[in-house]
Amino acid sequence: MELIATCAFGLEKLVYDELKKLGLWVIKTEDGRVIFEGDDLALIRANLWLRCADRIQIKIGEFKALTFDELFDQVNALPWEKYISKNDAFPVDAVSVKSALHSEPAIQSIVKKSIVKRLQLKHTTEILSENSGIEYQIMVKSNKDQFIVTIDSSGDSLHKRGYRMKTKEAPMKETLAAALIQLSGWTPDRALIDPFCGSGTIGIEAALIAHNAAPGSRRTFAFQKWPWIDQEQIKKAYQEIRDSFKPDIKLKISGFDIDPEALEIAQKNANNAGFKNINFKHSDFNDLDFSQFENCTFICNPPYGERLEDLAHVEKMYREFGKKIAETKNCSLFLITANENFPHFFGRPANKNRKLFNGGIRCYLFSYL
Ligand SMILES: C[S@@+](CC[C@H](N)C(=O)[O-])C[C@H]1O[C@@H](n2cnc3c(N)ncnc32)[C@H](O)[C@@H]1O
Repeated sequence: MELIATCAFGLEKLVYDELKKLGLWVIKTEDGRVIFEGDDLALIRANLWLRCADRIQIKIGEFKALTFDELFDQVNALPWEKYISKNDAFPVDAVSVKSALHSEPAIQSIVKKSIVKRLQLKHTTEILSENSGIEYQIMVKSNKDQFIVTIDSSGDSLHKRGYRMKTKEAPMKETLAAALIQLSGWTPDRALIDPFCGSGTIGIEAALIAHNAAPGSRRTFAFQKWPWIDQEQIKKAYQEIRDSFKPDIKLKISGFDIDPEALEIAQKNANNAGFKNINFKHSDFNDLDFSQFENCTFICNPPYGERLEDLAHVEKMYREFGKKIAETKNCSLFLITANENFPHFFGRPANKNRKLFNGGIRCYLFSYL
């Protein structure tokens, strides 16, 4: 099967590396997706283990279409009956970018009709009741008239790990938190500190990495209901998860936040994830003694001034944070913000600046090594 791991722009290389680590054959990397080859086990493993990807999709076809007739015919030529039985549901979702066929509802409707026609013929029935309880979410994406048609195997987006029941304002997606940690090069023998921890996402993702815990082990996936997926391979993949987990890790992860309610939520989320040993404490970063921090990695997502605080307040906060960080010894800092001028307020140019997206907002990951 040809499979696609979709991801946020800027995270493609991390997803590529994760797929390679799983021993999978990567065909190519494009904006927002990595295409790879694999069997049932590859699909299951990718869903369970990828920390930075949003979804795993089965690629059913790729073609160019400029008219609805062409779209109908191209979709009709694809082997839908291989996956979808006569009573299975198959909702269609469409996204169109810079294409002659730009009406997404019209694309949805034509694709649906075309698949219905094919399934009626192949399953020799007029009636497709869609009431078997099994669902195949079809996703159609067109970019400059080039269409990719897939079936989604993940269900909920992969950032939904199953541990975060509650969040405070402006939480970061788990996939982005995992990406920041991987980009920082942090290893569990080093202390990790998030002085603006909010709901605790960065600390919890770091704990998952430290324990070699599969991020998807606490949730369900669309593919689990599909009858043609080899059940033995599912069992095998879950056994691998149990075997890979490293229980005896001494975590050196701390999170601080000025908001006591955020801390409560962070602690609950960490408990849900099975990590009671992350050190979450209520504190304004200004009240922390930063000279105690030596050989640590700071990874954080302070307020941007767009959603939480007003800009002047945030810029003052960045200045104060710059002074505090200057008190640390041999520490590195990885900070994501939408404020392009962060280094100016922080008081030092960054060693590296990388563009990333946080919930659709263009952000900058400033690295101080
Ligand atoms: C963008 S949110 C962090 C979200 C977090 N990464 C998550 O995934 O939930 C910024 C956090 O900084 C906290 N904060 C604001 N001012 C602070 C201060 N002076 N000291 C510590 N935390 C502060 C806010 O309470 C908020 O939870």
